[in-house]
This record gives sequence, structure tokens and C-alpha cells, in this order.
Amino acid sequence: MPDARRFATLAVHAGEAGCPATGALDTPIYQSTTFTAASAAEMAAVYGGEQPGFMYTRYGNPTIRALEEKMAALEGGEAALATATGMAAISTAILGCVQAGDHVVAAQSLYGGAYDFIRRVLPRLGVDRTFVGMDAVADFEKAVRPNTRLIYFETPSNPVLGILDIAALARLGQARGIPTIMDNTFATPLLQRPLARGVTVVVHSATKYLCGHGDAMGGVIIGPKNYIAELNRDVLRDFGGVISPFNAWLILRGIRTLHVRMPVHCANAQKIAEFLEGHPRVERVNYPGLARHPGHELAGRQMEAFGAMMSFEVKGGYEAGRRVMDGVRIFARAASLGDTRSLIVHSASTSHAAVPRGERLAMGVSDGLVRLSIGLEAVEDLIEDLGQALAA
Ligand SMILES: Cc1ncc(COP(=O)(O)O)c(C=O)c1O
Repeated sequence: MPDARRFATLAVHAGEAGCPATGALDTPIYQSTTFTAASAAEMAAVYGGEQPGFMYTRYGNPTIRALEEKMAALEGGEAALATATGMAAISTAILGCVQAGDHVVAAQSLYGGAYDFIRRVLPRLGVDRTFVGMDAVADFEKAVRPNTRLIYFETPSNPVLGILDIAALARLGQARGIPTIMDNTFATPLLQRPLARGVTVVVHSATKYLCGHGDAMGGVIIGPKNYIAELNRDVLRDFGGVISPFNAWLILRGIRTLHVRMPVHCANAQKIAEFLEGHPRVERVNYPGLARHPGHELAGRQMEAFGAMMSFEVKGGYEAGRRVMDGVRIFARAASLGDTRSLIVHSASTSHAAVPRGERLAMGVSDGLVRLSIGLEAVEDLIEDLGQALAA
């Protein structure tokens, strides 16, 4: 696991070789769908995988490869595969583990897209699944069946910031011979390195903190070399969800400042969570950096810092949550997260509007829940903005 000093150097340099032909320092955007071969023999060798090289961007591209190498270095994995979006990373990684007749155990508190893919799409492919609450690793163990081929989870979870014991879930998977896939989007490899705790595969929405500026979509899967090679050959090529070279380049550029941006995101978030916790119109704040959060101690052990995502419940329920969202002036009413700009979402009327109320409440998404992605603005301005929106 790289220490802070090594992480910073890897974030800037890993995977990037500039352009040896021209001397360009920055990794070029290889905006080309196809690559030429010097001979029929060379083309056949590259096609067959006997010789390294590029032939078609859906199969691989030098700019995309640079992103993959940087992420493998930062997560401490053997290899990585970049994808068009975070959901392409999640679906590709899962499809690389399961087939008809298999069973998946997944955490109930997940990003909505991942939850929907596992709940609705996997059964159509003949894969059964069981969702488990965020309370105890023992519940995951109880849900395991002889045909379980995957344990899937995220921590901190979206949008209720539940914390799961990464090492304990990884140990469960190892003891039963079941791969674990963990979504590390909220924490990024700067704050949390699941592979070092025994997880088999890490997935990311690179659209968020890795890109960091809200201007490119992407995803990354990091894991064992053979698994990544098989995913590329047997899943991603055929499903086709590859990232564009330009987006890969934007995300490469974003990652070079991850270690500079992230501490500011986190420091701002801690101050805002403390402000909200003391506010009379706020029922509850979900932020692992608060001592009252049930996962505070565990998060302190497995994370370098508590991240910059939080949610809070406004007193007064559904309408009160919407009023706070309407009242903000600096926070942008926008989905997504990990942007330089602070973002606000009322979950019950937006991201979770399609989830039946009972199911939504069981996931911890209460009527008045508001999710914040804390950006890089002056924290005093953000606190003032939330204060006036809550007072309105
Ligand atoms: C935790 C998490 N994982 C994955 C995704 C999906 O990423 P993308 O929108 O890039 O497909 C999101 C999107 O919000 C997310 O919050």
C-alpha cells in the first residue's frame, strides 16, 4: 500500500510516459479508432495476443492504457481495465464473475444503479441474488449458498454513508472461495485501499473524484491480472462499453491532483457535518467523521480520512427536504458527486423516487434525506448557504 508520499508521486507519474516520438511531456490523446501494423504477421500477432500492441480502440488504446496503469498503481492491484462509465465498470466486473445458475450476495445499501443491476438485470440472466443489511458481516455469511459466486458491496455507501468492515468481508470471501467486489468511488484510493485488505476486485466510477471536475464519465476495474485479461477479452469487448480516449485523458489529468483536492474536500465536509449536527432543524447527520456515526470507529481504522459525502435528515420530512434544496444559492441542485462544486440532492424525490417507500425506508433513505457532495469552495460560504436554506 503506497504511503502518502509515494501516493503523490504515483498520482502524478504512474502510467504516463509522454510521447517518446515527439518528446511531448503530457500523455497524448490517441484519438484514433484503429492502429496500423507493419506486416500481416505483426497484425496477426497483435490480434492473437502474442505481441503487445494496439489495433482497435475497443480492444485497447495507449491513452486508455495510461489510465489503467495509473489506477492499478494507486490501488495497488496487478492490472486495471477502464470503462465508459462507473456502471459499465460495475456490470462488466460482475458479469466476469457470474453465469446462469449462480447466486450473488450484495449489500442492500448501494448506489441505485448497482442495486438495480443486481436486483433486476441479474435474475433475467438466471443469476439469483440476496441483499443484506449493513449491520453485521455475519448476515453476509448467513446469506451465502453453495452456488454463491460473488459478494458485492460499497463502503461508505451511497447515500446513507453506511460503513462495512472491508477486511472481515474479504476474509469471508476468501474462507468460502468467493470473490469480493467493492465499489471504492466515495473514498478513492487516496483514502481507502480495499485490495490491501484482501478484497479481490475494486470498481470505481471515475466520473466522480478521480476526474474531479464534473466533465468526463468513466469507470475503472482493478484486480488480478488474469481476471482483468479475461474481462477485456470475454466481456468488455463484446458488450462494448469502452471509454473514449479523450475522457481517459481528462480523468488522467484529474487524478494527478487527487491528493491535493481530496484533503480540502474532506476538511470542508468535516466542518459542515459538525455545523449540521448542531442545527435545530436537522434530525440526523450521516457522516462517518462524526463520533456519533455508528461506523465512526471502523471508518477511522480503514480510511485515511472520512471523505466528503454526507447526507442529513431535515425535520419536517419530504417537503422540508425539498425546501432546503430549493433554498440553496451556492450548492448546485445536481446529481453526481466528487465535483469541485458542492452539489445537493433530495434523494426521495430524485435518485430514489422510483423505489417503493417501504423499500426506500429500509435502505435508510428517509423522506427528508438530503445528500451533499462537498466541493472546494470556501467552507464559510457553504455553511452560510446551508444555514440560510435551513432557516427559509
Ligand atoms: C458509488 C457509485 N458507484 C457507481 C456509480 C455509477 O457511476 P457512473 O455514473 O459513472 O456510471 C455512482 C454514480 O453516482 C456512484 O455514486
